Amino acid sequence: EVILPPGIQRRVDYYLREYVSQKPRGIDVFSRSSSNGSIATDEGLFEQPEPLSHSKAAMEKIIWQRSLQMRTEQLTWQESQKGQKILEFRKSLPAYKEKDAILSSIANNQVVIISGETGCGKTTQIPQFILESEIESIRGSMCSIICTQPRRISAISVSERVAAERGELLGETVGYKVRLEGVKGRDTHLLFCTTGILLRRLLVDKNLKGVTHVIIDEVHERGMNEDFLLIVLKDLLPRRPELRLILMSATLDAELFSSYFGRAPMLHIPGFTYPVRTHFLENVLEMTGYRLTPYNQVDDYGLEKLWKMNKQAPRKRKSQIVSAVEDALRAADFKDYSAQTQESLSCWNPDCIGFNLVEYLLNYICQNERPGAVLVFMTGWDDISALKEKLQGHPIMGDTNQVLLLTCHGSMASSEQRLIFDKAEDGVRKIVLATNIAETSITIDDVVFVIDCGKAKETSYDALNNTPCLLPSWISKVSAKQRRGRAGRVQPGECYHLYPRCVYDAFADYQLPEILRTPLQSLCLQIKSLKLGSISEFLSRALQSPELLAVQNAIEYLKVIGALDENENLTVLGRYLTMLPMEPKFGKMLVLGAIFYCLDPILTIVSGLSVRDPFLSPLEKKDLAEAAKAQFSHDYSDHLALVRAYEGWKDAERDLAGYEYCSKNFLSAQSMKAIDSLRKEFYLLLKDTGLVDSNPTTYNTWSYDEHLLRAVICYGLYPGICSVVPNEKSFALKTMEDGQVLLYSNSVNARDKIPYPWLVFNEKIKVNSIFLRDSTAVCDSVLLLFGGSFSKVDMGGHIKMLGGYLEFFMSPGVAEMYQSLRRELEELIQMK
Ligand code: CDP
Ligand code: MG
Repeated sequence: EVILPPGIQRRVDYYLREYVSQKPRGIDVFSRSSSNGSIATDEGLFEQPEPLSHSKAAMEKIIWQRSLQMRTEQLTWQESQKGQKILEFRKSLPAYKEKDAILSSIANNQVVIISGETGCGKTTQIPQFILESEIESIRGSMCSIICTQPRRISAISVSERVAAERGELLGETVGYKVRLEGVKGRDTHLLFCTTGILLRRLLVDKNLKGVTHVIIDEVHERGMNEDFLLIVLKDLLPRRPELRLILMSATLDAELFSSYFGRAPMLHIPGFTYPVRTHFLENVLEMTGYRLTPYNQVDDYGLEKLWKMNKQAPRKRKSQIVSAVEDALRAADFKDYSAQTQESLSCWNPDCIGFNLVEYLLNYICQNERPGAVLVFMTGWDDISALKEKLQGHPIMGDTNQVLLLTCHGSMASSEQRLIFDKAEDGVRKIVLATNIAETSITIDDVVFVIDCGKAKETSYDALNNTPCLLPSWISKVSAKQRRGRAGRVQPGECYHLYPRCVYDAFADYQLPEILRTPLQSLCLQIKSLKLGSISEFLSRALQSPELLAVQNAIEYLKVIGALDENENLTVLGRYLTMLPMEPKFGKMLVLGAIFYCLDPILTIVSGLSVRDPFLSPLEKKDLAEAAKAQFSHDYSDHLALVRAYEGWKDAERDLAGYEYCSKNFLSAQSMKAIDSLRKEFYLLLKDTGLVDSNPTTYNTWSYDEHLLRAVICYGLYPGICSVVPNEKSFALKTMEDGQVLLYSNSVNARDKIPYPWLVFNEKIKVNSIFLRDSTAVCDSVLLLFGGSFSKVDMGGHIKMLGGYLEFFMSPGVAEMYQSLRRELEELIQMK
């Protein structure tokens, strides 16, 4: 006996009659659903389900009851007025027309691959179709659908949308989970989460017990986590024959995925878009009459990298690009254009620009173009907030009666997020400044104009994402097409690419998968922590395997830093590093900073190394900028200079004078703010490991000990080390592998003689020679004690390696003394 709302009774009667004949064995009564009718499932992702006290029969009864209740709720909603309206909207989406085909394909195949234009309803509809069909067949309470998203923001926004479409609150049937945040109830059967979260679940639950469907969205992005997950799931499928895997994407090399999963069926959802007119930089300049002015920061345009990536592209020299821009300028009749070409080039280099040009173009659109929202693709949130600040000072863009200025990026608040889906009032133009998140994962419906800067940067700091900061790089042709397509959703649109045609021609067709272009160290750690066996064997089964050499390098590196032992097993340090989703060297620094109670400066350093260099150096004020930096740089360390600059900013910020402080000292306020928020994130991550004391006074006991800080920096950056060889004039730098190297001219160490024998550095970059970026000077004893790892196993190896540098220390007495000192240190750390 179930109490039903009026009007539904008849339908449920029908279902009852139909299903009672197939009811699970052991169910004999339907009791009044007073016992709240739900089964205990895992509350969090990491806790295992509570052991159930119910008998099997009672359990089945509860499942049955709850499923029926879900069916009733769904029907009630679909019959309601609001529900009908939403259903109507849903039916208008292209995905809805394919509903039956999709469901039957999923029913008949373990793996299905679905592609379709952005906005056709993949993300919001397909998980819902599955859920609804499970509920319709009274299996609702037994299904558990997990849909992964590459970014936290899309997991959150999609789950909200789907809950709303189902007339529910978030946390009822639909929930989400991202790192450090989530809404999920006992009755959540459809969970949107980041890929990292699903990987973490696999840590504690190898077989994904209870999960019925895994949907991986946006597989075309080919992030490291997604590729990794695919290998793990491919292994899991034979063990869980009833588990269904659905891969979804906007632009998809479907064949590749299909053959990876043994010729899995591919479905395509046909869509429709209006034509979009394309303008390249040449046309934009001509049309708007914009005048390029030399920008004060010349940067590397990343052109070399672009051609390296895409060897087939018609190769153009930098000078040819310059002349293309010049031709464009000439065509636009800029007679007084006489700027040096290098500098003029950086005007369209979206790393440092483009703000003026974008502002100009937006102004042009506002004044001359038909109504319609504008979507601007920028590289990252720091660019976005800087541009927003600038635009707010503009007479039109800053006027809220004329323009609704919004942003859309990975770290926006959910309240802000909802605004981007709203239509602007009549006469008000909506402008959305977005990262590549708006390329495929978030659809803004009323866009008519798209401005594309041509570059993209991943700024995701999500769990298990191992590259907290990638530099902006050119997008692919496919991405450019996606961006263009955003303009044609409601009517014919316009797309402005802020780069010349010849640069577009050199774009790669597809973005290289992350697994092939980024270091694999963190991935290797994950493989080990999931106990997936031999690293190289595991990676050889990837969709596209990374080069063997890259894998070997990563393993070797992890051994040298003490995260893996000789036999490729995780060490204690390694286990901590797997809990810290960042480059291992930064994780190492944080671990030691926590252990040695000098955490605050180390948090600043690690955050500072993950954002754009906060020390600015405008061409025309180079000397002033250098002088400003010099006040922070009295101890031969770029890292400690950063700590000082940040602390000064923090003090100024308390008196609301952060901005003046930055402009006086040639610091980027954006970077300072970014460091500030990253510090908090890193602190929380570290807290999760249980290594830090929650009392700042305690964990900062030694924060002012400069020697200790050097030691911790050395511990993190080893084996990034070079020796300082004094010569007549000043000094030369040498590393073991490369011989002579040079310092970036903005390094604090690039000036005086360095009264230390060693530098540890963060990064080596090969331009013509090899340059070192961000270095700290250290003395012999620090290097001996803190270079390498604290792990009993590789102690001998470590001393041997250092021997290459420190032959003179290898006299038996000295080596022995250091060994015993190290042993003491190591015991101290183990005790902690
Ligand atoms: O995943 P896909 O790009 O195929 O589309 P979707 O995210 O499922 O979105 C389908 C449609 O739902 C979009 O075209 C929007 O009209 C609408 N939608 C919305 O209005 N608000 C959201 N938060 C998400 C989607
Ligand atoms: Mg989608």
